[in-house]
Amino acid sequence: MNDVVIVNEVGPRDGLQSLSKTLSIPERLTLIGALLDSGIRSIEVGSFVSPKAVPQMAGTGELFGLLPMRDTVAYSALVPNLRGYEQAREAGVQSVAVVLSATETMNQRNINMSLDRATEVCVELVQRATQDGIQARAYVAVAFECPFEGLTSPSVVERLIGRMFEVGADKVIIADTIGAANPQAVRNVLERLDKASLARQISCHFHDTRGMALANVLAALDWGVREFDSSIGGLGGCPFSPGASGNLATEDLVLMLDSMGLMTGIEPLLLVDTVRRVQALTGNTLGGHSLRWLERQPARREEVSRA
Ligand code: COA
Ligand code: ZN
Repeated sequence: MNDVVIVNEVGPRDGLQSLSKTLSIPERLTLIGALLDSGIRSIEVGSFVSPKAVPQMAGTGELFGLLPMRDTVAYSALVPNLRGYEQAREAGVQSVAVVLSATETMNQRNINMSLDRATEVCVELVQRATQDGIQARAYVAVAFECPFEGLTSPSVVERLIGRMFEVGADKVIIADTIGAANPQAVRNVLERLDKASLARQISCHFHDTRGMALANVLAALDWGVREFDSSIGGLGGCPFSPGASGNLATEDLVLMLDSMGLMTGIEPLLLVDTVRRVQALTGNTLGGHSLRWLERQPARREEVSRA
């Protein structure tokens, strides 16, 4: 349906990977439990990457084994290479996300591969996942601007998106890794794609570094995108991209969509409690732009939590 929007929570991966504090497996599990309690049904749980590169994500396989399994919840995990993919498959992961950055330098910094090599690896991972009956999601990262190479050409992004779909990706996530997109730049990329066949297979991942994440969501919604990544409390960043600050906060995204009459299945007022629980776990002051307003609605919150 056109008024249903999937909110894919990436706090447990994109959020935690850039925290200075490393959460334990039970703490990561508590975070995911809090997200489930608030009605979130699509969660990127972690990544199968080198613990030397990202120590915060060590133990993702063990975490998967402890997750509450429900038919209505979709969990995914990020994999950078074949080794990560094999570990994810062994852990029973049903949906993997590969990462292809749109520039040479970003691929080098993030996964120590050239753009060509990263493309080959992502192609292989997507094909393997498809053969194994695992959902394949492909991030096209630094899709608008790269912290090392400047503005990204929409034609390069179009080519990489096309390649990922060509080899069988179920979803492509257009990622503004450093929060440098603007609504016109979002349109410039989306308008190159075949809306009729691809609208339901595109997701967008915005960071709120320059306060434009929701404006970018609106541009993508207008084109037809119905899935977005966000991170509870705006946790996040990327340890390999200087200047990447928090993700679009889940509470901001859900409140805007809900106010517009779009359905996410998540009650925005209940996210206040989730953010508080995440604040207690991470020790960070975080929270989206809407948090103060949501906090000032205790009577309405009481009403919805009783409902
Ligand atoms: N999971 C765990 N460990 C892995 C691994 C994986 N998927 N892939 C490689 N490793 C280990 C290797 O065994 C090796 O360990 P050692 O030093 O103890 O021998 C070490 O990591 C380096 O392996 P190598 O194959 O030489 O890779 P590299 O140094 O070129 O690094 C990546 C490549 C992809 C493993 C690394 O850059 C990485 O994990 N990046 C993740 C970045 C990320 O998560 N970014 C944020 C999301 S976009
Ligand atoms: Zn991100």
